[in-house]
Amino acid sequence: MERKLKTIGVLTSGGDAPGMNAAIRAVTRSARFNDLNVIGIMRGYEGLINKEFVTFTSSSVSNTIQRGGTILKTARSQAFMTAEGRRKAYENMVEEGIDALIVIGGNGTLTGAQLFAREYDIPIIGLPGTIDNDLYGTDSTIGYDSALNTIVECVDKIRDTANSHDRIFFIEVMGRDAGFLAQNSAIASGAEAAIIPEGDTDVDQLAEFIERGKRKSKNSAIVLVSEAQKNGAGGAFYYADRIRREFPQFDAKVTILGHLQRGGTPSAYDRILASRMGFAAIEALMEGQRNVMIGIKNDEIVYVPITRAVKTDKPIKQELISVLNVLSM
Ligand code: F6P
Repeated sequence: MERKLKTIGVLTSGGDAPGMNAAIRAVTRSARFNDLNVIGIMRGYEGLINKEFVTFTSSSVSNTIQRGGTILKTARSQAFMTAEGRRKAYENMVEEGIDALIVIGGNGTLTGAQLFAREYDIPIIGLPGTIDNDLYGTDSTIGYDSALNTIVECVDKIRDTANSHDRIFFIEVMGRDAGFLAQNSAIASGAEAAIIPEGDTDVDQLAEFIERGKRKSKNSAIVLVSEAQKNGAGGAFYYADRIRREFPQFDAKVTILGHLQRGGTPSAYDRILASRMGFAAIEALMEGQRNVMIGIKNDEIVYVPITRAVKTDKPIKQELISVLNVLSM
């Protein structure tokens, strides 16, 4: 028999992403609107294992929609990856009277949720919270748009120096195994190329582009390099070294944007997305949904089985690659 839903727990896990607070706020307020009790779980799955529980009211989330990071804090829990850790987490939930969980995070977070839901009879709703945009079944993840905007702002600044000094900049951006941040920030900043794990772009195509650029009397260039492209971590240095050897007439520089990309105030898009998704998460629970991730497709909220969201590859549209190639000439 279905347990009556009285109390939900909400947590953020994995890398923080702008808009997580807006999601926590939406979950909390929508739950309270439906007379559900809300327990904020600190530090992701770690807090579930260590019983770091805080009772949340509507005012607990006041003045948070505009804040980056996560008021619930976050962690990448090793303990939750063990059966023993998950057992402890389940016992704590039962003791605390938490009937359902809302987890906000990326691939690792949802993979943890999937394992947990397989072993224990708990309804779980996932919200895609990651700057990487690498979850299948949703056009965008919470935090992706903000990170994209941050990157573009940085690239615009670097462009001034690239132009003034006639330099080629290789700018490394995050994204884990996905190239969405690199590809789309390259388009948005008018960069000359993007090197992404999904593409077959390599330095030889880069050489072609340099030749093309010379014909157009371009002496400076910006290349966005995904942290996970073929040459692994430090790929931006690899490409800069090759340029120095093969095209010594160019001055090549490397900039790694690093954790600059994760913090900061969420964009309006991410705030709205997180609000809609948080609201939808409570609706989903009330409808009896379980073990689904809330996604957005063509501006409509959709439910994606968590298993599909984490297991299926999310491809980068070929169109985006063509747009960059043609417009960067
Ligand atoms: O998943 C978000 C992300 O920022 C990735 O883009 C990046 O590879 C990773 O997290 C970095 O993690 P950490 O902050 O733990 O070093």
